Amino acid sequence: MSAVTTGADDKLIADFQPGENFEDRVFMVSQKDLRTTSNGSMYIHMVFADQSGQVVARIWQANQQMYNVIPEGGFISMRGRVESYKGNLQVIGEAIRPLKKDDVDLSRFLPHTRFNVETMWNRMLEILRTVENPHVLKVVKAFVTDEKIIAGFKKAPAAITNHHAYIGGLLEHTVGLLELANRIFGDGKSVNSLFPDVSRDLILAGLLMHDIGKIAELDYDTSFSYSTSGQLIGHITQAAIWLDRKVAAIEAESSEAFPEDIRNVLTHIIVAHHGSYEFGSPKLPSCPEAIAVHYIDNLDAKLNMALANIRDSRDDDSDWTQYVRPLEARIFKKDVMGIRDDLNKKSD
Ligand SMILES: [Fe+2]
Ligand SMILES: [Fe+2]
Repeated sequence: MSAVTTGADDKLIADFQPGENFEDRVFMVSQKDLRTTSNGSMYIHMVFADQSGQVVARIWQANQQMYNVIPEGGFISMRGRVESYKGNLQVIGEAIRPLKKDDVDLSRFLPHTRFNVETMWNRMLEILRTVENPHVLKVVKAFVTDEKIIAGFKKAPAAITNHHAYIGGLLEHTVGLLELANRIFGDGKSVNSLFPDVSRDLILAGLLMHDIGKIAELDYDTSFSYSTSGQLIGHITQAAIWLDRKVAAIEAESSEAFPEDIRNVLTHIIVAHHGSYEFGSPKLPSCPEAIAVHYIDNLDAKLNMALANIRDSRDDDSDWTQYVRPLEARIFKKDVMGIRDDLNKKSD
């Protein structure tokens, strides 16, 4: 084990208070930009992140040299203060020193799912075992018995920002979607499908695979960012490639051709799941199961985004969150029915 630098003033972002000064606090820089103010002087805009949340930081009167020493996705020790700005906290830096990853206690910085990873993984397998079609089941099995996929699936976030942006987020998101599908398309046992003409098997397999490419698209060892393959290939194409390989392996093992129609529809569900060209899908959802996967995915992602923004909103004087870009709206956070308060009380 290497020596760990703990800044003398270390504290989780969620515990920052306006007006506090610190001498030596360690931050993880998840984004940095060199910007110009309206009067022409340069400043550095950064986003710091730890397991409790994110905060914007600024260093006024900056220059290119100072900007260059800040490692993006890496760590700095900083002297500065916390301020309140338009109802949100921001950190103002006065002096910085870059740190090496080996000198930092990393566990504090990566946000983590609130749920138990093994419990979620087992629940996912339990739902997927109810797939009835033997060909679809073989595809599902090929993914969930692949050691690399298992390790990645238990760790990967579902996104860098916006929704489920934490370790275990991909698994939490996927299980959430499978649970939703169980309510709408039946659980294979006691709950009947509301749409018996739509294939539950294809939907379950599609949900498992739709974001599985995030395992390779994102880096999540020390901070969340896009990997090289993520930038060059992306999670949609990656999943389609993996599916193709799994089907080839299934064919090789059984010495039988995999049904082409099923292969095409599974691939289509993956590539169409973002629902529009603008959001990176090369094809629009064109069969009932692809439409279902797109909307279930959207419902879960957007509801989680809205709820997370309500939870994280620090401005108690306003009934509205900050503008949430992916939702193109500020979210009305007032709990008019009192149900979120009740839930919080129950979990206390
Ligand atoms: Fe996606
Ligand atoms: Fe998704």
